[in-house]
Amino acid sequence: MSTMVDLVAVGKAPLESLDPSDIQLYAQDTWRPVFARFREEAPVHKVTVSPYSPFWAVTTHDLCTYVETHPELFSSDSKYGGISIVDLPFQNFIAMDRPRHTEHRKVIQPMFAPGELARMGEAIRQRSTTVIDSLPVGETFDWVDRVSIELTTQMLAILFDFPWENRRQLTEWSHWSRHVEAVSDPELAPIRDAKLAEMTAYFSGEWSRKRQLDPGSDLISRMAHSDVMGDLTWDEKLGTLALLIVGGNDTTRNSMSGMILAFNEFPDQWAKLRADPELIDNAVVEIIRWQTPILAMRRTCVADTELGGQQIRKGDKVVMWYISANRDETVFPEADRYIVDRPNARDHRSFGFGIHRCLGARLAELQVRILLEEMIKRNMVVEIVGDPVRPATLAGHGFETMPVRIRYE
Ligand code: HEM
Repeated sequence: MSTMVDLVAVGKAPLESLDPSDIQLYAQDTWRPVFARFREEAPVHKVTVSPYSPFWAVTTHDLCTYVETHPELFSSDSKYGGISIVDLPFQNFIAMDRPRHTEHRKVIQPMFAPGELARMGEAIRQRSTTVIDSLPVGETFDWVDRVSIELTTQMLAILFDFPWENRRQLTEWSHWSRHVEAVSDPELAPIRDAKLAEMTAYFSGEWSRKRQLDPGSDLISRMAHSDVMGDLTWDEKLGTLALLIVGGNDTTRNSMSGMILAFNEFPDQWAKLRADPELIDNAVVEIIRWQTPILAMRRTCVADTELGGQQIRKGDKVVMWYISANRDETVFPEADRYIVDRPNARDHRSFGFGIHRCLGARLAELQVRILLEEMIKRNMVVEIVGDPVRPATLAGHGFETMPVRIRYE
């Protein structure tokens, strides 16, 4: 355990020594007291001790919301460094400002319209049922691999019309795209480059192939036939595909695993939900708040301004820590507790807020909801039987493995 985490545990570390980008905080699950101190003592704090310094850490719900709702001051554009704490050359609309962002978003948005989701819901339920019914009873297995990764990967394979038997390749590509630490690691960087080149080659081929065919309902066909997307450079086209693969993968996966941890830590909430399945919709939203699958998003300030009493200069890096906004006690009383009927769970910031709010939010909720519904229908109890392993990364907030055993009551 790093010295910093030890000190924080007793609340003695000087604020200036705290680093919210220390990956050990997430690997060891010791991040809570660090953010509690920031929220309390310096909700907009200049971090100078991180490998990604300097950056402003924004940690309260209201100030994160302020940044999100002022995109004219806080830019997502990749020309300033984009949306990741590490400068990454994203070539897609999550890393664009208006008006280009709006045009691109419009192309993809219909994929997530209610009618499309209803159609996908049937496929999701069918596949979730098959996965759940194949799980061994009374034997230890890894929930992350057998359920969370499997279900999210299947969903992506449907969205992209990807060859079914090779679908785990999507998981791998997503992993390497998101692996921000690999960018500056001499051993890992070439592996990442090779994986991304593989992904690029596959999707370039598919894009050209689908362009020759009649328009279909999968994402590649939709993009290949869209006028706005047609004008993009290859890098931008592929960047947009990568965004959809990455955006929908680890995040939903980690919600499905977080859900199991939440019910193991708060068995009274599981009992409450089973007694009143009407609470499922809210329970799902609360899972996404409680887990917060994306730790933070970054912006770059484009004009001198003031935020939370601090002077922010043009060019400064500003990082909104969603994980902290979601633990803000002034908005969510007993924020560390998972509460199925929390009345304002929907105010969480896990999906961001404002013009870049997650496009796949409804789809993510649908996948988690179907899994939960099917578990409840079967009276299936999932018990965690060993320590879950958490990755040491800023690329997402979740689990590498989670040993469980299931039984039916
Ligand atoms: C629980 C699961 C998910 C979480 C926590 C999540 C989180 C987020 C967040 C925080 C943003 C905002 C980024 C910003 O403001 O800079 C975002 C944007 C986005 N997400 Fe998700 N996401 C999830 C699932 C999905 C899924 C399933 C898809 C699609 C398959 C998806 C696609 C996108 C896209 C395309 C954007 C960019 C929107 C824009 O810039 O206008 N996400 N997501």
